[in-house]
Amino acid sequence: MKTRQLCPDGTMVTECGLGCWQLGGGWGIPWNFDTASDILSASHQAGVRFFDTADVYGDGNGESETSIGAFLPDHNNTFFATKLGRNGIFPDKYSRETLLEATEASLSRLKIKTLPLTQLHCIPLAELKKGDVFDWLREQKENGLIERFGASVETVEEGLVCLEQDGLSTLQVIFNIFRQKPLEKLLPAAKEKGVGIIVRLPLASGLLSGKMTKETAFAPGDHRNFNKDGKVFNVGETFAGLPFEKGLELVEKLRPLVPEGFTMAQMALRWILDHPEVSVVIPGASSPEQARANASISEMPSLPDSLHEELKSFYKKEVHPHIRGAY
Ligand SMILES: NC(=O)c1ccc[n+]([C@@H]2O[C@H](COP(=O)([O-])OP(=O)(O)OC[C@H]3O[C@@H](n4cnc5c(N)ncnc54)[C@H](OP(=O)(O)O)[C@@H]3O)[C@@H](O)[C@H]2O)c1
Repeated sequence: MKTRQLCPDGTMVTECGLGCWQLGGGWGIPWNFDTASDILSASHQAGVRFFDTADVYGDGNGESETSIGAFLPDHNNTFFATKLGRNGIFPDKYSRETLLEATEASLSRLKIKTLPLTQLHCIPLAELKKGDVFDWLREQKENGLIERFGASVETVEEGLVCLEQDGLSTLQVIFNIFRQKPLEKLLPAAKEKGVGIIVRLPLASGLLSGKMTKETAFAPGDHRNFNKDGKVFNVGETFAGLPFEKGLELVEKLRPLVPEGFTMAQMALRWILDHPEVSVVIPGASSPEQARANASISEMPSLPDSLHEELKSFYKKEVHPHIRGAY
C-alpha cells in the first residue's frame, strides 16, 4: 500500500484508509463486535493502516472506538483518527471542559494515553469562527492528550475558516465524482498550508458503487433513510446531497465511462487518489469483502486525463445543479 504525507510534521499514512462509522456491519442495525473485528482485520491484512472513527459512531456508547481499542494492541504501526464535538456537545455546549471530557472518554475507549489525531466533528460555523475550540485543542496538545488536531467540515467556507488556525494538521471533507467543489478553492488552500486532506464519502454513501437500484431499501436507523432529504443533519452527508433517484440516474450515465478492468467503486476511489492534494481516502465498509475491494485501489493505475476531463464536465453539467444543502 502506497503512503502519503498526512500533515506538516511529516507523518506518513497509507493512501487508502478505512472509515469506521458502519464498522459494526452497517448503519441502523445493532453493532456487532465480531463483524467490526473482521472488517478491521480484513482491512489491515489488505495493507490499510489508517482508520477514521468518532466518539459518536456505534449504538450510543462509542462502540466504534471500543472496537478499535480492542484491535490496536495486536496491530503495530497503525494510525487512527477520531472526532469529538457532537456527542452531547452539539450544537451549543462547547467549552474547555466538555472537549476535555470527550477526549478523555475517547482515550479510555481506545485504551491509549495520547490520540494521534482528533478532529472537530462538523461543529457549527459560529464556533469555528470564534476560535476558542482550537485554543482548547492546542491546550490538550500541550498537555499530551492529543498529538495533532484537525477538523471535519461540510462546506468550503468552514474549511477555509479552519485553515486560518495555527497548528491545524488535517481537514476532512466530502469529495467525490458527485461533489467536486473542494477542487476550486479548498484543496489548493490546504495544499499551500501543508494541511492534509482526508476524504470521506468517496462512494457517495454507496451510490458510486453502482450497486443500488430504486428497489434498494435502507433500515429505519440508516441515515440513507432518515436523512435522505437532510432532516437530521446536512444533506451532503447522505448521497453527497443528491436526491436518491437522481443519484441513480446519474450512476447510469457514469456506467459507460468505467474503464475496463475497473469496477465503478474503483473508478470513484481512483478519481480521488489521482488528486495529489489528498492524503488519504477513507471509504466506509460494512463487510470484510468491501474493505478488501477498496484497499485494492492503491495498486490500480491512474485514470486517463481524458476521463478526468469527462468527469469534470459531467459534474458541472449534470450533477452540480442537483446538489442540495450548504456546500
Ligand atoms: N461528519 C463526518 O465527519 C463524517 C460523516 C460521514 C462519514 N465520515 C467518515 O467517512 C467514512 C466514509 O464515508 P461513508 O461511509 O459515509 O460513505 P462512503 O464511504 O461513500 O460509502 C460507504 C458505503 O458504500 C458501500 N460500499 C463501500 N465499499 C463498497 C464496495 N467495494 N462495493 C460496494 N459497496 C461498497 C457500503 O454500503 P452498504 O453498507 O449499503 O453495503 C458502505 O457502507 C465513514 O465511515 C466515516 O469514517 C465522517
